[in-house]
Amino acid sequence: MSIKLGDEAPNFTAQSTKGEINFHEYIDGSWAVLFSHPKDFTPVCTTELGTVAQLSDEFEKRNVKVLGLSVDGIESHNDWVGDIEDVCQTEMNYPLLADENKEIANAYDMIHPNELATLTVRSVFILNPDKKVMLTLTYPASVGRNFDEILRVIDSLQIGAKYKVATPANWKSGDDVVVGSGLSDEEANELFPEGFNAVKPYLRYVADPASKVTSN
Ligand code: BEZ
Repeated sequence: MSIKLGDEAPNFTAQSTKGEINFHEYIDGSWAVLFSHPKDFTPVCTTELGTVAQLSDEFEKRNVKVLGLSVDGIESHNDWVGDIEDVCQTEMNYPLLADENKEIANAYDMIHPNELATLTVRSVFILNPDKKVMLTLTYPASVGRNFDEILRVIDSLQIGAKYKVATPANWKSGDDVVVGSGLSDEEANELFPEGFNAVKPYLRYVADPASKVTSN
């Protein structure tokens, strides 16, 4: 069964390179990114996992816990970690989950047999602190993901959760955002006293509320 936006992310308990993890307990109160890769000791996967480790400060700053996963076993994961650290000159500071019996892969619909018969594809799930799925992505084996894009989506989701705004195409943190379409002009004026720029009645820009500088 496929997972839809807004669904509660299925819980599981699994071995990882950081010990046994109960997913819901582990992410308690944080945002989370669960991402699968097809296979240990493969080139694209090595660069992806190292890149995520290099970005660990960025995830931490956003209160996001990251977990990688494949259907390889824990011994294979533990052996591969050294290679990732060597190639990417980083420390593998987040857990890699082992899912040999494919329980997690099946629960999250990470196996797409027309792409890879028995291996997980490159899936991404972003969860909010209520463990609700806020984004799903599926990439084929040959395309390494852009983890700056994952961070950009997290920035958007986090300001959307805090302020009644959405983010336009190619938005990045600090750019103007748009007033949520559920807000009347009166409500928008109350929430954004600096005013908004209505390019169309339904397209109203305001400065990124997360970038506001507060003076003492
Ligand atoms: C890779 O990581 O390069 C890869 C893994 C599985 C299938 C194809 C490519």
